[in-house]
Amino acid sequence: MTITIRPMERGDIPAVAELENEIYDQPWSPRVFFDELAMGNRRYLVASSKGGMILGYSGLLIVEDDAHITTIAVAEQSRGTHLGTRLMLALVDVARDADTRHLTLEVRVSNDGAQRLYERFGFDPVGRRKNYYKDEDALVMWATDIDNDAYQERIAEIRAAIEDATT
Ligand SMILES: CC(C)(COP(=O)(O)OP(=O)(O)OC[C@H]1O[C@@H](n2cnc3c(N)ncnc32)[C@H](O)[C@@H]1OP(=O)(O)O)[C@@H](O)C(=O)NCCC(=O)NCCS
Repeated sequence: MTITIRPMERGDIPAVAELENEIYDQPWSPRVFFDELAMGNRRYLVASSKGGMILGYSGLLIVEDDAHITTIAVAEQSRGTHLGTRLMLALVDVARDADTRHLTLEVRVSNDGAQRLYERFGFDPVGRRKNYYKDEDALVMWATDIDNDAYQERIAEIRAAIEDATT
């Protein structure tokens, strides 16, 4: 299936919010997505099928040198097909285009799958935020110096690996 990753638009929000409700116990409301899109230092992406179905989304908050990944999610039926990886690759491109140098995020301490994805992108755990999710602590992860050659090589390898897997 051909899937395009492109900037999220206001018209995508009902479908994004529906996915959000399916995926998360404490979902963002449509209003939160509208507010996020209205802010100048946010960048949101969607993964859309040829028919226009939203299969995933992700977002960044940009503050000076740092790009904070605010969300990333893939529809359950599309997981394990590298869509999460493609959304992360697109976020790294957006972060670089915005001249940021470091990436950070929070993830549930129990979310091993997502942590594995982030580790592949060079994220290291640096701390814990107590009860960040009301019912669970968050692991705080950082990928630093994304502007250096070593990081760019890592990204090129990830990109090449998923291209090999899909051709
Ligand atoms: C995390 C998430 C976005 C990953 O999306 P995805 O499309 O399945 O990811 P990919 O297919 O690109 O997987 C990339 C790698 O991540 C790891 N991974 C992702 N999900 C995994 C899982 N459930 N179990 C184990 N490893 C997993 C694997 O290392 C995988 O590599 P592999 O395919 O070579 O085994 C998706 O599982 C999701 O939406 N989860 C619910 C929302 C969520 O937890 N978001 C993160 C909030 S911090």
